[in-house]
Amino acid sequence: MNILITAGPTREKIDPVRFISNRSTGKMGYAIATYAASLGHQVTLISGPVSLKAPAGVTLIPVESAADMAAAVHANTPEADVIIMSAAVADYRPAHPIDSKMKKQPGNLFLELERTEDILGTVGKNKRADQLLIGFAAETEELEARALDKLKRKNMDWIIANLVSDGFGNDTNKVIIFNRNGERFPLALAEKSDIAKQAIDLILK
Ligand code: CTP
Repeated sequence: MNILITAGPTREKIDPVRFISNRSTGKMGYAIATYAASLGHQVTLISGPVSLKAPAGVTLIPVESAADMAAAVHANTPEADVIIMSAAVADYRPAHPIDSKMKKQPGNLFLELERTEDILGTVGKNKRADQLLIGFAAETEELEARALDKLKRKNMDWIIANLVSDGFGNDTNKVIIFNRNGERFPLALAEKSDIAKQAIDLILK
């Protein structure tokens, strides 16, 4: 199968030396890409800036911003059988990025932010019936209700949900996986490589 995976954070430019980003390490997406490739699937990994090595046998497309990631995803979606979106995409970007380094001024600074594209939302809206769409939800509270709401709202087939405290930035994760029938598959705390294996085995079964 042709499997498209997004991973890592995005960076949204403020000026040539500054950006807005988040603490995503990309480990979960890279672990999924590594395992999917080991099963013999054709894997394309669209990744924001991370300090991980490209997994063997995977086509890596490095991107920086949410807009770059959206363009790469839309270009590669038509060929994909399975689309797995684990990236922590910035929801907002500076509305007026500047090309020269910002100089400090007296007083406070107000940065105007505008929304980025909800990449998963767009893919969910346009996906074909033969494509499987899997998203992630990292929440600090109300994990299950929010994950189920996201799954429906963004037309996903599966969602992998975790508490930020259980997985974000860590080597391990503790997730609950839901399918679109609302069936619930909780996985015990484990290394991300092990979570990737269990999740992919469950979803591709
Ligand atoms: N995602 C994406 N593009 C974005 C934001 C998120 O593709 N601009 C994907 C992530 O890769 C992840 C899922 O959407 O798979 C997470 O959704 P999230 O942003 O948490 O969902 P919302 O309910 O829209 O957001 P919020 O929790 O902020 O209400």
